[in-house]
Amino acid sequence: MTSTNSTAQPSTESTKLAERRTFRMHPDLLWSVIQSQAGTADKALLEGVMNAVDAGATRCDIELSATGFRIVDDGRGFESRQTVEDFFETFGTPHKEGDATYGKFRMGRGQLFSFAFTTWRTGTFLMSVDIKKLGLDYDLRDDLEHTPGCAIEGTWYDPLDSAKLYRLAHDLGRLCAWMQIVVTVDARQVNRFPADAQWDLETKDAYLKCSPSGGLTVYNMGALVRIYAAEEFGVSGVVVSKRALTVNFARNDLLTSKCTVWRSIKRQLDGLRGALVTKKVLTDAERDAIARAFAAGEMAYQDIANVRLLLNAKGNHVSLASLRDSKVCMAANLSEQRIGEKIMDAGLAICLAQGALSRFGISTLAELDKLLYPHSTGGRSRSISVIYRGFFKACTVHELAPDIKSFYKILDSTKLGKQQAAVLAGLQGMADKVCKKLNEYLIATELGESKRWSPSGDTPRWWKEAKDNPRLARRVVVLGQSDTAQAWTDGATFIAINIDQIRRMLENRRFLSTPFLYLILHEYCHRENDEQAHTHGPEFYRLFHDYQLEWSEPWETFAAEQDVLVGYLKGLKAVGSPAKSHLLVEHSFQADLIQRVEAAGVAGSDTTAAGAIN
Ligand SMILES: Nc1ncnc2c1ncn2[C@@H]1O[C@H](COP(=O)(O)OP(=O)(O)OP(=O)(O)O)[C@@H](O)[C@H]1O
Ligand SMILES: [Mg+2]
Repeated sequence: MTSTNSTAQPSTESTKLAERRTFRMHPDLLWSVIQSQAGTADKALLEGVMNAVDAGATRCDIELSATGFRIVDDGRGFESRQTVEDFFETFGTPHKEGDATYGKFRMGRGQLFSFAFTTWRTGTFLMSVDIKKLGLDYDLRDDLEHTPGCAIEGTWYDPLDSAKLYRLAHDLGRLCAWMQIVVTVDARQVNRFPADAQWDLETKDAYLKCSPSGGLTVYNMGALVRIYAAEEFGVSGVVVSKRALTVNFARNDLLTSKCTVWRSIKRQLDGLRGALVTKKVLTDAERDAIARAFAAGEMAYQDIANVRLLLNAKGNHVSLASLRDSKVCMAANLSEQRIGEKIMDAGLAICLAQGALSRFGISTLAELDKLLYPHSTGGRSRSISVIYRGFFKACTVHELAPDIKSFYKILDSTKLGKQQAAVLAGLQGMADKVCKKLNEYLIATELGESKRWSPSGDTPRWWKEAKDNPRLARRVVVLGQSDTAQAWTDGATFIAINIDQIRRMLENRRFLSTPFLYLILHEYCHRENDEQAHTHGPEFYRLFHDYQLEWSEPWETFAAEQDVLVGYLKGLKAVGSPAKSHLLVEHSFQADLIQRVEAAGVAGSDTTAAGAIN
């Protein structure tokens, strides 16, 4: 038999015959709910704090120990046997609209039950709950002397070790950070009142503050719900709602689609995120947030086109707009990244770093092109003189540089020419001085000491430690060949300088040693092998910066540079080519200076160029 009506409805006839029944609950369901809604001990204790707020308390004091806890509040407590029976004994009794700030399900106390044996002393009552021993039964006394508020004593089912106890106190403080009554943990107030703090924005719904990174921490009227990854809502910072947020049963996630308060807060957050694009310097988390919002269609291309979101092979960030009508490739691995640097130096294409697209939630140039296609100019570029379809012309690193294999070869030092060997000796002298200074800096920083020697003339600790126990081992300077690197290091034993650098200098017969100082310092600041991954983290930049600006004295820098100059002069002598016959750039600078000083009429009688060059 076939039916023309596909959605079968129970006929009135069959409904009439049916017996109407109601679903029932097995007591085990309550048991399961108590067990499974409990996430962590800190969240369970937070339930106690929220209940104190609902009871009209002005403060809630918590003490923690390895064996248990105590939560005391000065709220109204349980006022009658009826309230105990209806609200304590009975799970799920509905709330009346507006009778509580947090209370919703009449289930929260179950979280405390699942972690500890608890006794509740309130009014004339004492309730003892031990679900491990008594299951869903509990003991009630109502003949005691009246005591105000509510005091809950708990004995952990699983005692805590000291690390867990410390962590619990810390996490609980974080959960209560913006509660609206005084909350203390082990006698220390852990909350602040939002009205007393500085915010980027205060609306009728929430207090909002942005931060450069760390994700978005959302508090439901002061009680922490969850820390969301920055890209989830496009911004890092703190939101403390003023009105109730709709949260899940365990109160550890927002129900974003159902929550009208959150919808309005989200609009405010989008506004704050929009302001990010005008920042001159962005953090990676902020870049992630903008890229993710663009990919999700939440931010328009024209608003973010000039924001530097894409990491290139040289370690700089470039904008999406800069790719338009250009040739673009992407390093498939870390060794291609080195080749990518060359490609960019030669102006062949923009080479994106490996993984540069992950913040858009994509991994290939084709996907990026698809994302940007609506904003393309139509496929013919004047600048790259090729016909293509899309926003940019995607190429591979291999197509652009088929001959570059990114090789690194170290040359046998005993087989170098006399000139090269002499310069190499100078470079080693320079490198040793850099190494010594870097060790002093690293150790002084570790010890929290300053560069200055004390007025009493006592030797600073860093001075001795740098000699006895250096943090950076001496690296041997060698000459090498590479088609991608000017210099490289294994981060521990050697620094290789590309022999082309020396050759070029010797051929030009012009000499300036400062570039070698930068090269050697750069390589020393790499404390890992940089042949494959030529990446620079914050530690690298810090070391490079502090060495130059804070630690090394100008005269020490000159002394290091002189080593190479002397090596160069020795090299010239070794091949019978006297120094005087060549223009030494460093010396010519001095000659220039003397001429200018003389022209200014402020020089003494013996400042001649010849005198200075001696
Ligand atoms: N410290 C307290 N002082 C006074 N009454 C309390 C206290 N703690 C709990 N209660 C009473 O016990 C009831 C049950 O608390 P419970 O935390 O289980 O549920 P709730 O707070 O009503 O809702 P939710 O499940 O959303 O937390 C509360 O509604 C309140 O009437
Ligand atoms: Mg509660």
